[in-house]
Amino acid sequence: MRVCVFGAGYIGLVTAACFADLGHTVAVRDINPGTVAALRAGRTPLYEPGLAELLAGNTERLSFTLDAGEALRHADVAYVCVDTPPTAAGDADLSRVFAVVDSLRGASHLKAVVVKSTVPVGTGAQVRTALDAAGLRHVAYAANPEFTAEGSAVANFLHPDRVVVGTGDEVAATCVSELHKGVDAPVVVMDVASAEMVKLTANALLATKISFVNEIANVCGLVGADVVEVARAVGMDHRLGPHFLEAGIGWGGSCFPKDSLALKQMAGNSGYTPQLLSAVIEVNDLQRRRAVQRLKTALGGLAGARVAVLGVTFKPGTDDMREAPSTVVAARLLAEGAEVRYWDPVAVPADAHPWSSCTRMATPAAAADGADAAIVVTQWPQLLDVDWAAVRPAMRRPVLLDGRNLLDPGTMVRLGFSYMAVGRAAYEQL
Ligand code: UDX
Repeated sequence: MRVCVFGAGYIGLVTAACFADLGHTVAVRDINPGTVAALRAGRTPLYEPGLAELLAGNTERLSFTLDAGEALRHADVAYVCVDTPPTAAGDADLSRVFAVVDSLRGASHLKAVVVKSTVPVGTGAQVRTALDAAGLRHVAYAANPEFTAEGSAVANFLHPDRVVVGTGDEVAATCVSELHKGVDAPVVVMDVASAEMVKLTANALLATKISFVNEIANVCGLVGADVVEVARAVGMDHRLGPHFLEAGIGWGGSCFPKDSLALKQMAGNSGYTPQLLSAVIEVNDLQRRRAVQRLKTALGGLAGARVAVLGVTFKPGTDDMREAPSTVVAARLLAEGAEVRYWDPVAVPADAHPWSSCTRMATPAAAADGADAAIVVTQWPQLLDVDWAAVRPAMRRPVLLDGRNLLDPGTMVRLGFSYMAVGRAAYEQL
């Protein structure tokens, strides 16, 4: 098939590259000249494992342009993959989605318009109305939410648990199914509103699991239990499952914070107060602040202390810093008067508060050199290979808060660290 993908961000590019790899011809349209120029020059403007290889291996089926008309010229299907950031009110900002819909005016040869962007329930109905008003009544509409996690987006796209299609139109369902031919997963067809709700529900439930286990972790630390052991055994119950039960400094990223807030606001706008979801968000907000509080207690105050922040991306395997817990940790440390040195193998944080007041170091050891405390914020595997025996004597004070329960506590204690973990009573406080 011939597809036009709007948006060359994480979702759009992965979608485009995977469709091309499945044999379709894909024209990608983005509004950022730098992004389009990079893609045309064969450079991948973001870091996602396997993406550069897919783009390079399918050049004859991929094109990139700033011009919506050009991208749409030969397309059967238009895929909307633009971002929907929170507005000042915490709702999803749909202006980019509707800017794309506007640009479809005149593309009467299209068979279907498919929205992949995460949107509040009811957006599909609004898009349908806009398409009708633009003279595109005959063009089918579908929602096709994505469930890809950053760092494994290509694999998730090509080997999903399911493909969800929300539509009232058989043509759209057929188009989306055809596009996914070669993907070994059930295609679940339902109405548009339910498909939109699936996406928000899945992300909210995953965020709930993490906030829940973080709350349990905080209790474990107080009552003498170890959350790693608790989660391991709880996760063996097939009704609960082992995934998303890793306690730590909390969730971040482009999806969980935005989608949980959007779902909360959407519920509120509809007249329901979502108490559980509100608590899920609050537990997560507190978890990262709590980490700084623990460092403050351990050091007897943070003013004048030098703290090494190890890892700044919201999770390993990505360069994404959106809503990263590290940003709150760094800002809180600075606010308490600490000096912050940080290390990350990939991310280069924007030159803005708080990172503009922090110092980037080339290695974890360099960041920890002369520090009063170090905190693991992102569970980069590189941290497992650090020569901690050499780091320990180089620190001014050997306080180490493992915000991801990444390191082996026994080893760290043996090396002489004042080691603290999350939800492990034996390593709760110094
Ligand atoms: C998530 C969803 O997994 C994906 O399906 C959706 O489409 C977008 O949002 P992503 O944001 O890329 O994907 O990251 P994910 O791997 O799910 O992790 C989200 C956050 O939760 C990270 O900050 C991670 O460190 C944290 N996390 C995850 C935990 O703290 N504990 C866990 O057990 C799992």
